[in-house]
Amino acid sequence: MNHRRANSSRNPPPVKPVVYGVLIIFLFLTCLSTIKDKVYPNISNLNKDLRLQVEKCDVPEHKRDLIRKLEPLIAEEPLDIWEGLGKEEQNIKYLPSMIDLSSKQRFIYIDLGAREYDSSIGSWFVKQYPKQNKTFEIYAVEADKAFFKQYQSRKGVTLLPYVAWIRNESVVFGSKPIIVKDKVWRMRPFGRIEGKKEEDDKLSAVTRVEAFDFVDWLKRTVKETDFVVVKMDVEGTEITLVRELIQRGAICLIDELFMECHFDRYVKCCSGERINRFNYSYAQCYDLFSDLRNRGCVVHQWW
Ligand SMILES: *[C@@H]1O[C@H](CO)[C@@H](O)[C@H](O)[C@H]1NC(C)=O
Ligand SMILES: *[C@@H]1O[C@H](CO)[C@@H](O)[C@H](O)[C@H]1NC(C)=O
Ligand SMILES: *[C@@H]1O[C@H](CO)[C@@H](O)[C@H](O)[C@H]1NC(C)=O
Repeated sequence: MNHRRANSSRNPPPVKPVVYGVLIIFLFLTCLSTIKDKVYPNISNLNKDLRLQVEKCDVPEHKRDLIRKLEPLIAEEPLDIWEGLGKEEQNIKYLPSMIDLSSKQRFIYIDLGAREYDSSIGSWFVKQYPKQNKTFEIYAVEADKAFFKQYQSRKGVTLLPYVAWIRNESVVFGSKPIIVKDKVWRMRPFGRIEGKKEEDDKLSAVTRVEAFDFVDWLKRTVKETDFVVVKMDVEGTEITLVRELIQRGAICLIDELFMECHFDRYVKCCSGERINRFNYSYAQCYDLFSDLRNRGCVVHQWW
């Protein structure tokens, strides 16, 4: 061994220039991709993380077939949808309309950002979602105290009075107003995690509430053998939540996901301008949905 090594150092093999060449090209590409990430920091980073995790979920071919049969994702930003599912609801191709649930052990529905009982649990999940006569355990995750009373004596529904988040910690929750050309537009308070400075700005309607590690909770609460439906309407936090669900191998625990991806849309207020309330474009949200479906997640666009 030693002898051969000594030999080769006296006569450098011709592969060396090739190695240097490859190294230079590699460094160049690394620089390029770093620059690209700086320009598009948000979703491009997310999608890169997602690509690294492709192996985590085991997606059998029949599941890919089911995903191909889902309603198509809407590629163009709809300009006429302001609130709620509206006419999109009739297009949803529900998973239990395609598969038999009888092999599943428990049936669980988790509503992240539940708000009023009737806003999605009562009016949609209980009435519309096809359940094949199974009784679902329902978890309502809602941090806004204004809604707690509605859940006090509701049989079969457990209220988790926290913000769905990626750590157990207290967060600043509520909403800050939209300011366009010095005019302050106060929005109906909606629950989202805002920054610390909103706590003292005298304009924002925020309070400090407890957030919990939803990813950890999900892993401890449900099993692969359960049938788990999640509605996620968390006012922008979905990007972080989905990233962590994937990174920590919990996305596969969700059988069917209804997710609103909050993008920078035209709003009724503020002279109909785009207000950059959310930092993502419709195209970025569309990519996120496509990416989730590509990796075997039965996900629907929620509005
Ligand atoms: C559900 O139960 C009702 C009444 O017991 C029955 O008529 C119906 O066929 C059942 N549906 C399914 C999908 O099993
Ligand atoms: C978060 O808090 C809950 C309830 O106290 C606890 O059971 C859980 O282990 C905590 N999760 C983490 C990741 O610390
Ligand atoms: C959106 O981006 C701006 C500028 O980078 C930042 O100040 C703001 O906090 C971001 N908003 C959200 C909701 O992430």
